[in-house]
Amino acid sequence: FKVPDIANEPMRTYAVGSPEREALVRAYTQMEQELPFEVPCIVNGKRIKTGKTAKQPIPFDHAKHLCTYHEADQATVASAIEGALAAKAEWEAMPWNDRAAIFLKAADLVSGKYRNRLIAATMLGQGKNAWQAEIDAAAELSDFFRFGVKYVEELYAQQPPKNTNGSWNRVEYRPLEGFVLAVSPFNFTAIGGNLPGTPALVGNVIVWKPSPMATYSNYLIYQILEEAGLPAGVLQFVPGPPPEIVGQCIASQHFAALHFTGSTAVFKKLWKDIAANLDSYKGYPRIVGETGGKNFHLVHASADITNAVHQTVRGAFEYQGQKCSALSRIYVSSSLWNAGFKDHLLKEVAKIKVGPPNDFSNFMGPVIGKPAFDKITGYIQKAKEAGGEILIGGTADDSTGYFVQPTVILSKDPRSVTFVEEIFGPVLSVYVYDDEKYDETLDLIDSTSAYGLTGSIFSNDRKALLKATNRLRNAAGNVYYNEKCTGAVVGQQPFGGGRASGTNDKAGSISIFYRFVSARSIKENF
Ligand code: SER
Repeated sequence: FKVPDIANEPMRTYAVGSPEREALVRAYTQMEQELPFEVPCIVNGKRIKTGKTAKQPIPFDHAKHLCTYHEADQATVASAIEGALAAKAEWEAMPWNDRAAIFLKAADLVSGKYRNRLIAATMLGQGKNAWQAEIDAAAELSDFFRFGVKYVEELYAQQPPKNTNGSWNRVEYRPLEGFVLAVSPFNFTAIGGNLPGTPALVGNVIVWKPSPMATYSNYLIYQILEEAGLPAGVLQFVPGPPPEIVGQCIASQHFAALHFTGSTAVFKKLWKDIAANLDSYKGYPRIVGETGGKNFHLVHASADITNAVHQTVRGAFEYQGQKCSALSRIYVSSSLWNAGFKDHLLKEVAKIKVGPPNDFSNFMGPVIGKPAFDKITGYIQKAKEAGGEILIGGTADDSTGYFVQPTVILSKDPRSVTFVEEIFGPVLSVYVYDDEKYDETLDLIDSTSAYGLTGSIFSNDRKALLKATNRLRNAAGNVYYNEKCTGAVVGQQPFGGGRASGTNDKAGSISIFYRFVSARSIKENF
């Protein structure tokens, strides 16, 4: 068995009048007519309606909701854990090519039969525009499954380098003992697939708690994996209130690993809870997390203004800044700022249209919900109080949906709150530095980077690029030259960061698979 050649899924462009745009609009309209959907828990392949329900809203239309989902109660979570453990022996003994085939088939279902439904669900439930949903729910999701298969093949091919005469050494990469808990976020449907998918590929069984704000698109992923042949019990789908479900899983003596994407605060809390239970586990649980970011662009005096502004607008405002990788603070050389950067930036931001994603001319949509809306508008207020000047935006309207205008704040205090705390919304803080003070600016960025996820350096001077790359080596796990700090591609830029941004195990690469296996060395003498 040899994994077929893997390539990144080509992205559709949805040009005006194109058949692909028409097909997507049809799928979206049909979904709108069918909603609200009812989503059960799924344990051992069985749909369970607990009767305790919650709604997944539509963030740009208060009058509707996308689905009503059944929250997993204690008994459901208990049977999910028990069922996963019962499914484990067969799943881990399944020949690798059969496990791989399920994920390759699922990738084809994502990029083919289910593509428009996944995109429509991501537009309606998570408020992405068509292109942002395409990158996520079609391209990245199928890439995670396909590249995952390639990486596991490479992992299994690893062997100890040497045998001595008369002996034979081998290494087995076994799944972990127990079950893996996957806790996925709202902002990427693809991460919904990747968090359970990665550990499952290497033979683990998974209890999966999706984000309440991504329940429906994540339920579609479950259905796709099921249709592709994933055996019942390998993946248990348990939506519902995070503290209860996650707490119950972590309290189980069979808890073996956490695969998490979400906020830094929640991740730290879970890590402490896991530590508190350590004596009850069979082993040391693997903890893999990708959390917050406070990502930067550094624009050197030698940079190209048009490109730096274009990348800045995309990095900060695509998907309303709700990416852990989103640009949130920018340091611009004063000569460049005065030579047209400022005017060009404000002109480009002024062009951004904000509104529902079914109008394809809207570059930005809503933020995900009321807590996000309140938090983001609160930060805009705090920036004003700290003496920041709102250059554009600063307004918001939650009468029909949670819309926040793209906001640019100029501040003279680079240590003020909007330069250091994660906002997770369309707010960009600008600091203009003296051209002479490039080195001091590097120190400033490093010392204000409690997070370490992504960062970009704009310059046509190689020395300036290298100096920043070296000085900021812990301030970003993903660095870009002359390009925005978002949009890592599976298989091309392994994704993740250190400091408060996570365990930096690099999604979309072979590295992360090592975290979900436990190797065994076997030596035989002849
Ligand atoms: N991987 C995404 C990006 O790079 C964020 O999760 O933008």
